[in-house]
Amino acid sequence: MSAMLKSVTVFAPASISNVGPGFDVLGFAIEGMGDKITLSHRTDAEYVIEALGAELPLDPKRNVATVALKSFCDSLGHKGGFDITIEKNFKPGSGLGSSASSAAGTVFAANELLGKEYPKTQLIGYAIDGEAVASGNRHGDNIVPCMLGGFVGVKACDPFEGFSLNYPEDLKVLIIFPDVPIKTSEARQILPEQISMTSGIQQAANMAGLIKGMTEGDYDLIRSSLKDNFAQPFRKTLIPMYDQVEEVVMASGASGFNISGSGPTMFAFFREGDEQSALKGKINQLYHSEGIKVQLHESTVNKNGVELL
Ligand code: HSE
Repeated sequence: MSAMLKSVTVFAPASISNVGPGFDVLGFAIEGMGDKITLSHRTDAEYVIEALGAELPLDPKRNVATVALKSFCDSLGHKGGFDITIEKNFKPGSGLGSSASSAAGTVFAANELLGKEYPKTQLIGYAIDGEAVASGNRHGDNIVPCMLGGFVGVKACDPFEGFSLNYPEDLKVLIIFPDVPIKTSEARQILPEQISMTSGIQQAANMAGLIKGMTEGDYDLIRSSLKDNFAQPFRKTLIPMYDQVEEVVMASGASGFNISGSGPTMFAFFREGDEQSALKGKINQLYHSEGIKVQLHESTVNKNGVELL
């Protein structure tokens, strides 16, 4: 890319993290949802944020995108300012990696705008610096899939170590978003500091089963392994109608169900061709009866991650 660019626009996909037993470890990018981010140079040294489609902090010290951007620019010694326009097509606080989309998208855009040509894997640490502002913790299970696309495992953040996972080509995802806000930082605080050996062993068994199921396209194994002992039992209490939704989803023959990120979004796996309209009707009815708005979105795994528009 040329260092002469005045402006770049990128798309940074939403993502589902904490996939079953992969708390803080497994995540995948999703199609059709994400941030459109435009970054351009300023003649002064300010970072000026414009937020479209959602209310975001406009203070550069509190906005995940500008914290990540500053971390990247500090490492380069770049002192110039930027105008940053972040256009959201999904709600922050929904559990779909909103802060990761903004942070990863902005660092990727800066790399392009400044003509640096760093590989995406080298940008991950800066994006995590931004994400940490929102969650109070350094984890990469949204940042990494958003950056790289596909289905990923994160072994370490500093420095980044991770891998891509194969998944069945006909994998479909139903995203269920009841419109109640949950902050990742608060959803982390309710988690226990310790877990029992029994719980840890079960989690490891489910992780092994999920990886084998994903890589071999064994949907029965995916269904029986997409379970979480670390966060789901605690966080489900923050999500209205969680147990009822799980019951109708699993009864519909889904290939697994769990919380997306820190919630309130939940997700279910299906195979392409599986009929979901009756299930969607039931979920709509459940939330409607409680006066809670719910959005349902069918998607697939986004293979590309953040990209130039
Ligand atoms: N792994 C993270 C968590 C994802 O559960 O806190 C949400 O950002």
